[in-house]
Parts: sequence; C-alpha cells; structure tokens
Amino acid sequence: MCGIVGYVGPKEAQPILIDCLKRLEYRGYDSAGIAIGGDEINVYKTEGEIAVLEAGMPQMPGVVGIAHTRWATQGRPTTENAHPFQGCEKGVAVVHNGIISNFMELRESLAGDGHNFSSETDTEVFAHLVEAELKEDSDLLETVRIALKRVEGTYAFAVVAPGRPEVVAARNESPLVIGVGNGENFLASDVTALLKYTNRIIYVQDGETVRITKDSVTIMDADGAEVKRAPERIAWSLEDAEKGGYPHFMLKEIFEQPAAIHDSFLGRIDAVEGDEPFLDGGSFSSVKIVACGTSYNAGLVGKYIIEELARVPVTVQISSEYRYSAAARENPLVVLITQSGETLDTIAAAREATKRGNRTLAIVNVTGSAITREVDHVIYTRAGPEIGVAATKTFVTQLVALYLLAIELGTMGRTLTAQAKRSIVGQLRNLPRSVQDVLNQAGTIEAMAQKYSGARDMFFIGRNLQYPIAMEGALKTKEISYIHGEGYPAGELKHGPLALLSKDTPVVAIVTNDRTYEKMIANISEVSARGSPVIAIADANDTEIIKYADDVIFLRETPSLFSPVPVIVALQLWAYHLAKARGCPIDKPRNIAKTVTVE
Ligand code: AGP
Repeated sequence: MCGIVGYVGPKEAQPILIDCLKRLEYRGYDSAGIAIGGDEINVYKTEGEIAVLEAGMPQMPGVVGIAHTRWATQGRPTTENAHPFQGCEKGVAVVHNGIISNFMELRESLAGDGHNFSSETDTEVFAHLVEAELKEDSDLLETVRIALKRVEGTYAFAVVAPGRPEVVAARNESPLVIGVGNGENFLASDVTALLKYTNRIIYVQDGETVRITKDSVTIMDADGAEVKRAPERIAWSLEDAEKGGYPHFMLKEIFEQPAAIHDSFLGRIDAVEGDEPFLDGGSFSSVKIVACGTSYNAGLVGKYIIEELARVPVTVQISSEYRYSAAARENPLVVLITQSGETLDTIAAAREATKRGNRTLAIVNVTGSAITREVDHVIYTRAGPEIGVAATKTFVTQLVALYLLAIELGTMGRTLTAQAKRSIVGQLRNLPRSVQDVLNQAGTIEAMAQKYSGARDMFFIGRNLQYPIAMEGALKTKEISYIHGEGYPAGELKHGPLALLSKDTPVVAIVTNDRTYEKMIANISEVSARGSPVIAIADANDTEIIKYADDVIFLRETPSLFSPVPVIVALQLWAYHLAKARGCPIDKPRNIAKTVTVE
C-alpha cells in the first residue's frame, strides 16, 4: 500500500504536497518522492520517511505536482525504487499505488523498443508506456487511457507531463479521491490528506480516468464517456484527522471511543426497531462473517452476539481463506467486515460471495470505499478517520454494528421479545459510559504495563465472548509493542501452551463475572502454579480475584454480552503503554500498513 497526492493551483505545489503527504504516511513510510511540473518535470525522491524527503529536498518551484509515500511490495525500499518514476529525464512522471501484474511482459516489450529501466518496480513501466504514447499535440488524459489498455492489475496512478498545467489520474481497485477547491484542485488516496484544504470530495470509481486543472475537473468512464459527478461535503474536520494534543494517533483514537460508539448507534436504534432496517427482507439460513486481522476478531465476537440474540448459526472465516473454500450447501448472508473498505482479500471475498449467489452486507468505516460498491447492503461504523495503523475505535464500532445487526436478525426471526430488545438497547446506550470509566484508569494501566514491558512473550486468555477479545489483545500487543502475544481460549492452555509458561511469561486473563468465572479461576490457578505472573481484568465488585492474580485491572461491571467492549479498551491501553515503554513507533509499526491492498 502507498499514498499518492496531486495538486494544481495558483500556489507553490511543493509545500502543499508535502503537507498532504504527511497525512498519508500511515499508508506506507519506507520511501517517498515528489515531482513538480513546469516546462520540464523535476523529481526528488529518497529512501526513508517523509521527514527524510523534506529535510533533503531542494526548493522546487512550480504550481503543479504529484507526490508519493511508499510501502514496498514490488522491489526493495530504496531510493531507486521510490516514486515518482520518469520515462526519461525531466519527462513524464508517475506515482502509483497498487500492483501491475503483467509488468514483466510490458517491461520486456518496452526494453525491446529501447526503453531503459532504473528500478526493480512494476510502476516504472507505466511511466515508459505514457512517455511512449505522448506526442506534443496529444491530450494527456487520452494518452493515459491508451497506456492503461495495456496494464493489468490494481492501481491508482497520478501523472504529470512537461508543459502541461494538469494532473491526470486513474483508478482500478486502489483508492483515489479528488478534492475540489477554489481555483485549485487536489488528488489523494484518502480524504484525510486533503481536509486542511477542502472538504468537497469526489470519489473516483474503478475504471475512471480523471484530469484536474486549477479550475476544472474532468472524469471519463472506462468507455471514454464523460461522467458528471458533484462533490460531496465531508463531515470530518481537520481536527478529526490530526492528533489534537495526544502524543500518538492511537491514543487519541482510543480516547475517542465513547464518542465513536455514541455516533455509531445514533439514529440507528430506530433502524433496529424496524423503521429503517439494514436488510430489506429476503431469506438466508445462516450468517457467514468474512474479514482479516482485527476485523476478523470483531467477527468472532459477532458470532457469539448473533447466535445469542438471533439464534442464527454463524461461521467466521479469514478473507484470504474464504475464497478458496468450497461453497457449502447453504444460503448464508455473507457479512464482510473491514474498517478501510479497501482490503483486497476482503473485496475478493465479497466478489466470491456474490458469485456464489449469496446476499452480502459490509460493515465498513470509510464512506464510498471500494467494498461498498461490491455488496448488497452497507452498515457504516461512523468512527471517523482512524490514522494509527492499529485499529481501535473502528473495532469497537464494528462491535456496535454487530450488536445492531444481531438485534435486527433477532427481531426478524422473532427470537427477541420487545421487552428483551428494549433492555438490550438500554445496555447498548450505557456503553460509552463504561468505556469512559476504563479511560479514566489509563494511569493505572500505564503503570502496570510498564512493570511488564520487559517481557518477550505474553499470553492472553479468556472464555466465550472474551476469547476473541484475548486474541485481539494479543494482536494489538504484538503489532505495536513487538512482544510476542498469544491469544487463547483459557480451556486450551492445558492442551499444549502450558509447556511454554514460566515466570518470564506474563498471562493476561479476562475474568469478568459471567458463567465461565469459576472455570477461569481454575485456569489462572494452573497458570500461577507454573510461576507465571497473572494480570487479571476483572469486575470492580470482585473481592476474590486478588487472591489469584498478581495485578488486577478492575472494570465497572457490564452485562456479559457487552463486556467485550470495555475489556478491549483496557487491552488497547495495555498494548499502547507496553509499546510506549519500549520506545516503539506506535502509529507506524514496522512492516505493516493501515490498508492492505495486496493479496
Ligand atoms: C489492526 O490493528 C491491523 N492493523 C490489521 O489486522 C487490520 O485489522 C486488517 O489489516 C484488516 O483491515 P480492514 O479492517 O481495513 O479490512
């Protein structure tokens, strides 16, 4: 995954492009580059983060430009492989997010025509393709369209050419938006990059090629017909996309969770009460949830919630596995969960579900993202922009969406009485308060995390709904603190992993007050017997737990169906403070990116 931006206007492009690019750094940060247009195109690029680019680049005058921040997929993260690429010195420059799958074949053919290549990347061939097609009197947008006919794969491209006050761009399965300003226009991979400059956004669709000049926007569909599409006003503010005084986006996003949860069910309670349902009738015999990473863990919690409230059988599958599995003889509602809406594995799964004739519903955070065009129904989680690579507020709002969906399915299937539904809705409304209570304990959690931050391995255990929460706690911990975290159903420890426990292996145990409480106490006793320190997450009124645990994070008691929400918030803070104590780059952990657009 990479981030691209483009600008055409009356102002100097270089500082604007760098400013916008910095907001896309979550999409990749191993190398970066910029191209500024004029009679000739000047490029500067370097290995490393955008700060390295900014520190080293010369002043590059000009009012047209493109820039790129890279997360290497094809070719190593070096200066040579950084974007933009040029067909020839000072000529056409191209930035790209995606993968050109037939690039070897194109490269051989272009090399045969005398083109020389300086990098290992797929993108460079596109610069040469455009260069080869572009004549002095030809139209850049048309030229890009011709060049694209030879390209197979996924892309968001942006192109500048000498002597042309325009940026041309194209999209196929990689995100691209146009920002419409006053006497200036922008392009970016993501709305958040542009919010400082404009909130009027046009979402570019797959197959479209676009041109921005300082005072016009042209969109062509795949057949070359002009498309008229008015900009949408985006409600997200710049402040939403900035750190707002927190040291990291992740911490800011953790603290935004009470508001995010509130926003995610605002106005929706009516929907589940039948006025505006997510699904408009239709029948299905089961639910299949398909997702990756944190969204998959949300799906695992969703299984318990839907089975409990709606008594519909639910299976959960990792997206990259789903499409290769055989279609069983059933007619499931396929629920795809993805905060970004751009995860290629999950988009491929949505297509496969449609091919199998199943009804599809996406739970997604980003408005207008690719998956929304692949499915029959969409539930937006309304968490606002999430910049930290580690998913936090998008996870809890995915859970809210799953509660709402379960209530609707329970109502449709008549497994929920009106009274039960009222009580569940009431509990849902209390969630922001329970989460705020956890946030008020951030200092205690920080001190505890510091104590255990030297660990190399850590186990997370829970039962029932808290088992996927243990998995999510482990994922957060390994992702940002680089401590090896393992999430396990507590009952499974004795079937193998107990062999790994010792005084150096802290075990975080979720021991909230539900029907598994006694069993959890037995499990943590087994753990203590091996000398492992136990950190329990327990209810505030549990006076016994201290006999079994070395440290306890006490949480306000929440009905068991909803307690995954406050517990995961405690574990997010736990992972955050472990990472902070270890000096890790929390918002941009090594080797991973926020949106994964490769399979
Ligand atoms: C979460 O902290 C991770 N960064 C990652 O597992 C993520 O949840 C996964 O890549 C799926 O992303 P999506 O929700 O955008 O599809």
